[in-house]
Amino acid sequence: MEAIKAPRGTRDILGGESWKWARVMDVAASAADDFGFREVMLPIFEHTELFSRGIGDTTDVVEKEMYTFTDRGGRSVTLRPELTASVMRAYREHDMRRGPQPVKLWGRGPMFRYERPQKGRYRQFAQIDFETLGAPGPMADVEIIDLSMEIYRRLGLSNLQVVLNSVGCPKCRPVYREALKKYFASGFDSLCETCKSRFDRNPLRMLDCKNDECRKLTENAPAVTDSLCGECGAHFRAVTRGLENLGADIRLDNRLVRGLDYYTKTAYEILSGDLGAQNAVCGGGRYDNLAESIGGPSVPGVGFASGIERIVITMEAQGAYMGREPAPRVYVVTSGQGAENEALSLAHDLRSRGVSADLDFMGRSMKSQMKIASQAGAKFVCILGEDEISSGTVAVKNMSDGTQETSPRAAALEKLERIASRKEESK
Ligand code: HAM
Repeated sequence: MEAIKAPRGTRDILGGESWKWARVMDVAASAADDFGFREVMLPIFEHTELFSRGIGDTTDVVEKEMYTFTDRGGRSVTLRPELTASVMRAYREHDMRRGPQPVKLWGRGPMFRYERPQKGRYRQFAQIDFETLGAPGPMADVEIIDLSMEIYRRLGLSNLQVVLNSVGCPKCRPVYREALKKYFASGFDSLCETCKSRFDRNPLRMLDCKNDECRKLTENAPAVTDSLCGECGAHFRAVTRGLENLGADIRLDNRLVRGLDYYTKTAYEILSGDLGAQNAVCGGGRYDNLAESIGGPSVPGVGFASGIERIVITMEAQGAYMGREPAPRVYVVTSGQGAENEALSLAHDLRSRGVSADLDFMGRSMKSQMKIASQAGAKFVCILGEDEISSGTVAVKNMSDGTQETSPRAAALEKLERIASRKEESK
């Protein structure tokens, strides 16, 4: 029988890598604290309507990429392709409008999109996602963009480019759509099939096409910023100025349109030069009409999400510090089967003092236990031979300088707690 493998587009994150992810999460969590964001944990599946109405029926995500199924109760549910719509749903469902505004929330976890897998693009991927709800002004946008850059700064990333645009609002976007359609109408025949189908339904997305012919045509397309209404124009200028004021290096790009339909005004992405074709390490923007499209009173919002896989790929490519691979500080080595209980008891006492410890369960010789201790990166080895056990002592070998000292068990434990506990190390 053929062995079952993980589904295409998914990845097993194993022990050799998971600690890198933990570092990204730790940095994100500490930045969230510093910027006043509270973590929320929301369902991994939601009613399909939340996404079809929230993200937009004509988007690739809703049209082609959702993992949708009918549950045993006959309801259509979807594995979340992103978090923003869920965060807005939770804000409304828990009436967060009643508390002080804005409400700043963040979340993390797996998202699901049926995309064509390639480097940096998976069918199950993880995001960190930050949302500011209830603040209509441009400074909330500036803070969100600053937060995303701060996370990458703390992770030691470089070679990143912040690309900024405005996609207008329901007042001025129709004007821009018409201008675009008028422009593309003359070259319609040379457009790719996808763009032809987008012409009527979602002409802004034509600006995002990767096809060479279409790209050539989009170069001289009218700029969205020329069609913005007074309010959207002022908002865009205030965001740009706010970012300049923080010293951010940004590039304005009139062709940046996002793949989700809920955006209004600010749209941005941060691109990494080390990712290849899937070069967006994060994307986000403002979505002042999302609340209404999922049913409910209007709530302004702005946020971003970043793919953890893409952050880790960029960090690896740039040789950024990825945290420390977990290794036991102490390895307990014993001789003889009778000593196993003693060894486990010593490991127990070390662990309860905050000293990470490991030991052998496979009845290996002392020599191979020593080898394993060194391969595992242990800083100290506690040797429990027959002599030590009968005299109630422990021989502690320092693996970096090779010195060895025998002392009573209690004294050895105390010393190791002093020099090898997690608490001491993080000082
Ligand atoms: P998005 O641009 O679809 O936006 O995704 C945000 C980030 O998630 C991307 O920049 C990328 O790093 C990562 N990502 C997306 N799809 C994949 C994939 N298939 N494989 C690996 N990584 C992926 C959103 O999801 C919005 N909800 C962001 C947002 C929050 N806007 C406002 N608030």
